[in-house]
Amino acid sequence: MNRNEAFSSFVDMDSANDLIDMTPAQFRQLGYKAVDLIADNLERLQHRQEPARRAVPTALRAQILAHPLPATGSDPATLLEFVAQHILPYPLGNINPRFFAWINSPAAPISILGELLAAGMNTSAAGGDQASTYLEHAVLNWLKEIMGFPRESGGLLVSGGSMATLVGLTVMRYCKTQTSNIRAHGMQQEPTPMVVYKSAEGHSCIDKAVEMLGIGHNYLRKIPVDAECRMDVAHLAQQISADRHAGLNPVCVVASAGTVNTGAIDPFEAIADICQRENLWLHVDGAYGAIGVLAEQTAHLYKGMDRADSLGLDPHKWMYVPVECGCALVKDQEAMRNAFSLVPAYLRDDRQLPWFAEYGPQQTRGFRALKLWLAMQQLGVAGYRQLISRDVALAQLLRAKIAARPNFELMAAGPLSVTCFRYAPAGAPDLKALNRSLLEVVQNQGQTYLTSTEIQGEFVLRATVVNFRTSESDLDFLLDAIEQAGQEVCESQRS
Ligand SMILES: Cc1ncc(COP(=O)(O)O)c(C=O)c1O
Repeated sequence: MNRNEAFSSFVDMDSANDLIDMTPAQFRQLGYKAVDLIADNLERLQHRQEPARRAVPTALRAQILAHPLPATGSDPATLLEFVAQHILPYPLGNINPRFFAWINSPAAPISILGELLAAGMNTSAAGGDQASTYLEHAVLNWLKEIMGFPRESGGLLVSGGSMATLVGLTVMRYCKTQTSNIRAHGMQQEPTPMVVYKSAEGHSCIDKAVEMLGIGHNYLRKIPVDAECRMDVAHLAQQISADRHAGLNPVCVVASAGTVNTGAIDPFEAIADICQRENLWLHVDGAYGAIGVLAEQTAHLYKGMDRADSLGLDPHKWMYVPVECGCALVKDQEAMRNAFSLVPAYLRDDRQLPWFAEYGPQQTRGFRALKLWLAMQQLGVAGYRQLISRDVALAQLLRAKIAARPNFELMAAGPLSVTCFRYAPAGAPDLKALNRSLLEVVQNQGQTYLTSTEIQGEFVLRATVVNFRTSESDLDFLLDAIEQAGQEVCESQRS
């Protein structure tokens, strides 16, 4: 039986790959088209010709969801056209200069190309002698240097801040176990429940990690915050002491380098002192704000962050790199490896750099380092310092504009680029209802976009600046849109 006879009933050996492959010329044509689509969008963004956010039309939503499993293939050019018409116009919106909602910066154009080129290589950055290994170590070393971590610390690029927290706390749990081997026994033989501490403003990904690690959220203490939304250190010390007296095992404090609600930076030095005295692990959640250590206005607030045992930061939040790109750093590289590696110590061959898969949960890994390496090379530390400082300065300008408008009230503003405020015209009977309604109007219009949060029980509007394309006129546009929507709501309530 020859090769063709063996498969002839169901496979045409010579043409099957035509179903998927393209000639270089076809790829070029479609690739140029894809790049044109991105460039056209950049142009519209730069000229403020795109709304911050468009709702997906009901018919399109239904069409996408109801589309049956394709029984046969389609022409790539037609597919790209569909994407151009029906997918690209409906992003979350964070690349738009008038988007002030969730914390995801737009991507530096060079790192968009990095994402494309990494997909072209389609390498798995699990480890071994390949360029991605060295690029990842290079960017990890740079990030360690910016964060004040020693070069011999462990590090890993991960999907984002949530995964960085999980990685950091996994190593913490490995180091703080009272049994000899948490990897064998899990939490099943832990004689005393572990207790973890975060501030009441700490991110929910900490709760998730605590749950996933089997510590349980009943053992996560949410320490009250001071007037500036930072962890109250006296309360922290009292709570640790109370837990010890109750026979529990305090193991870790998670401090925030920029909370999601207000951008508060916890007092690292005082927290690190407590951790040192009490022998607790210190993890810093810097998903949003760790990179604020570079900003001229805020650098002094990070004193003591370098005393953390582990730290998470998110290049996809404020380093202008496309999602997904987070980073976990752990001071004790060996502990990080021991917490994850399935290679027994006697088989580890460190004549080459160890595989990244030994330092975290993933085996096959995307080449995240390329887009970050390109952005970091293009900008340098000086460029980042300038851009991050500019975002912080714009947030300060927004606060000044809020203070200057008689119908606006500044509610909270941390040192970074989040501002909480509300529309509060004199005599308005229910500010919560008013702001809730006007926010809905602004969001539905979609010309600019922001969200809300709660500060000490008050409903507030929340605007973040992490966009290098945002300018002063965009701030005015935002406040005008709110004022106009607020007036409309007030008038409709009166009529
Ligand atoms: C302070 C903070 N920590 C952690 C996270 C989680 O990061 P990610 O969404 O990248 O998983 C966020 C996300 O908004 C955040 O703002």
